[in-house]
Amino acid sequence: MKSLKDKDGLLCLLTDKVDHELLDAAPKLKAVSTFSVGFDHIDVPACTARSVAVTNTPGVLTESTADFTWALLMAAARRVVEGDAYMRGGKYKGWDPLMILGTDVAGKTLGVVGFGRIGQAVAKRATGFSMKILYYDTRRADPAHEAALGAKFVSMDELLAESDYVSLHTVLDASTRHLIDAKAFAKMKRSAYLINAARGPIVDEKALVKALKTNRIRGAALDVYEWEPKMAPGLASCRNAVLAPHLASATLETRTKMGQMSAQGLIDSLAGRRSPYRVA
Ligand code: GLV
Repeated sequence: MKSLKDKDGLLCLLTDKVDHELLDAAPKLKAVSTFSVGFDHIDVPACTARSVAVTNTPGVLTESTADFTWALLMAAARRVVEGDAYMRGGKYKGWDPLMILGTDVAGKTLGVVGFGRIGQAVAKRATGFSMKILYYDTRRADPAHEAALGAKFVSMDELLAESDYVSLHTVLDASTRHLIDAKAFAKMKRSAYLINAARGPIVDEKALVKALKTNRIRGAALDVYEWEPKMAPGLASCRNAVLAPHLASATLETRTKMGQMSAQGLIDSLAGRRSPYRVA
């Protein structure tokens, strides 16, 4: 924090909390640029009140994040991680019709929670799997987008009740914190999977551990955690969970673009130009 005292600009990561305390320690700050699309770690109203511009990296990580969401979904449904451990553990003694049985993906129902850029890119991939696509958002999407993806706008309750795969793509704010809690798990099919490549606190992680351990749902695949980088007690021993360390945008191409975009956002703000990547 001390080093911020005389700085005009800050290029931060999603692990850096930009709050009143930081802003107090940086009285000359004019711009904050985050190397992420999510900006829940930044107190945007506090920045605005101090005339500090905030920029992020929208768009460039949409496809990588959607790809990784699918990697998680497929890994969970087809038990790829368990299969890998089986091989490395020397347990494979020969083909068996009932060994490591997974769940089909093609033709199933995908529920997309949060139908922004990433949610829609995830839905687009689902069309290739002939899936029925449901989505929930606070606002209904443009009918043309809905029609192009064959996606149906439903209530959150309907989405939870009908989906075989529930994939989260909302921002994290007060309205989405613990959106998926014990009550939500109770509404899901016992055969359903939860996928979260958005933000950890959208899910009540203790309730998730309970749901996984009691087979309230069949499985989960997570890239983000409520108390990241920590996991809720018991999660690591849930064999029906696929766990990744916040990798959704982690490709060389995408991280390079994010670096360029976050640097450009900072340069623009400091030069007094309105960056197209401006959050506020
Ligand atoms: C990653 O989680 C991001 O917000 O860019």
